[in-house]
Amino acid sequence: MNNKRKTQLNWSREAVVYQIYPRSFKDSNNDGIGDLQGIIDKLDYLNDGTEKSLGIGAIWLSPIYKSPMIDFGYDISDYLDIDPQYGSLETFDKLIKKAHKRNIKVIMDFVANHTSDKHTWFMESRSSKTNPKRDWYIWKNPKPDGSPPNNWLSVFGGSAWTLDKKTNQYYLHSFLPEQPDLNWRNDKVKVEMEKVLEFWIHRGVDGFRSDATYHLIKDDQFRDDPPNMSYQGPKGSYEELIHTYSQRQSGTLDVINTFCSILGIHENKYMVSEAYLDIPEMSKLYKACSNNLHAPFNFNLISLPWDANLVKNHIDSLEASLNKNDWPNYVLGNHDRPRIITRIGEKRARLLAMLLFTLRGMPFVYYGDEIGMENEDIPPDKQKDLVGNRLEANRDGERTPMQWNESVYAGFSISKPWLPVGKKYKDVNVKKELDDPLSMLYLYRRLIHYRTHSHVLLHGSYRSLDLGDTHVFAYLRELGDEKVLVILNFSKGQESVSFPYQKARVICTTNRERENKIVNLKKITLTPSQGYVLEVKDKIREFKIWN
Ligand code: GLC
Repeated sequence: MNNKRKTQLNWSREAVVYQIYPRSFKDSNNDGIGDLQGIIDKLDYLNDGTEKSLGIGAIWLSPIYKSPMIDFGYDISDYLDIDPQYGSLETFDKLIKKAHKRNIKVIMDFVANHTSDKHTWFMESRSSKTNPKRDWYIWKNPKPDGSPPNNWLSVFGGSAWTLDKKTNQYYLHSFLPEQPDLNWRNDKVKVEMEKVLEFWIHRGVDGFRSDATYHLIKDDQFRDDPPNMSYQGPKGSYEELIHTYSQRQSGTLDVINTFCSILGIHENKYMVSEAYLDIPEMSKLYKACSNNLHAPFNFNLISLPWDANLVKNHIDSLEASLNKNDWPNYVLGNHDRPRIITRIGEKRARLLAMLLFTLRGMPFVYYGDEIGMENEDIPPDKQKDLVGNRLEANRDGERTPMQWNESVYAGFSISKPWLPVGKKYKDVNVKKELDDPLSMLYLYRRLIHYRTHSHVLLHGSYRSLDLGDTHVFAYLRELGDEKVLVILNFSKGQESVSFPYQKARVICTTNRERENKIVNLKKITLTPSQGYVLEVKDKIREFKIWN
């Protein structure tokens, strides 16, 4: 018998990740708030092993830990328990088991920069200057005039320091005052947080999404951040300063490497870090991890202007910046950013979906984007996002209940949901779209299933094609003699392009036109915002395409 263990391919290399905002996904106990049992009930929708389901390979759960919910779970009061609104550790274990049965990996949100002010660690820390946990958080004396120790700003606006009257010292909070920052220069904090990772790994989780990663380490001399000379908005906004000292310290890279070593002790784990970065900064974060079990999120597709060349340049530069074992990823939306359709409209959202699932790397899907959910305008008396109110950019709009069907509250719950259901839910919902070949959901399913059955898309190389002066972005994915050609028309008008290949078979188009047909690539014409996925090959591989 051969005892040699085969090196396992890390799951991150093949999975499409689906972000669930648990509060808004499915309510199983009719209290108007989504929960873990609700997620379990909907696992078949995510992946039941057939092409009827979405076909994703992993779910990332926004925080489900115990929390006072000031920032809806990003303020944790107990890292080792589930908030009763969402379920219990038993339900969580059931979720892991049922997800794994369907080949769905589970990623936990890991909020390491800060806790809730209701966490016992902080309550102990604030109780006196001599408390053993005092140094677990960042405490500083006021300046002689009583003002905060330096000019650092909270990401959510205003000073990053709050005075605690009891001990007359300020504590640091990079986000809300109810989210005090942990002191990652204290070894005891590190050890405790490492135990958190171990706890969830032992419960069966497959990876983590690390929150606010570049905030973990701050300048040890607490120097003032320099002013941002180009800023012209209101006072107290985070953009007013350049955050040279309050974040992005090189020490963060050591922390990431520690996370990676913990992941590396166990089999087949992975981590992605939240940080909105350009390519050179992303490279630093890739290099931080010595075992390639970590990547920074790539959010650039969210903010790039609608321009084929800019998108091409971004992807080309990212690919060129990566080392052999670095694994790229792409994100189109999340719980902090307006929904994709609201940003760019449906036609363009379809084109970006095609891009997302045909690039090399890990695609992230935000729940509801696959059916084309839009941002909802939430009237002020119904708004829940305190943070967003401070930012003047309320995030409730992208967090409304998942639209399952046309019944009351869109099938999310039979009780009034915590946020109103999107107005268009009778037309935009899973039930309606599942069998509609022209729906967004149909396109997502088709692209995801094609991707997960295609070695070329999963493991092939990426090469963009130079089409000269055009609004069309085209690239090849290649593996051995197999070629997949993707052509995306970013223009508002019709565009014709030609390729040095004779024929290809249409696997998918954004509007289902000519699917399954053989087309001549000497001249191919695309309608506005149309995209094509084509197999270029003499002998076209068998792939079952349903109609
Ligand atoms: C991250 C989360 C965001 C949260 C913040 C503070 O940016 O994505 O939702 O408010 O961290 O934890």
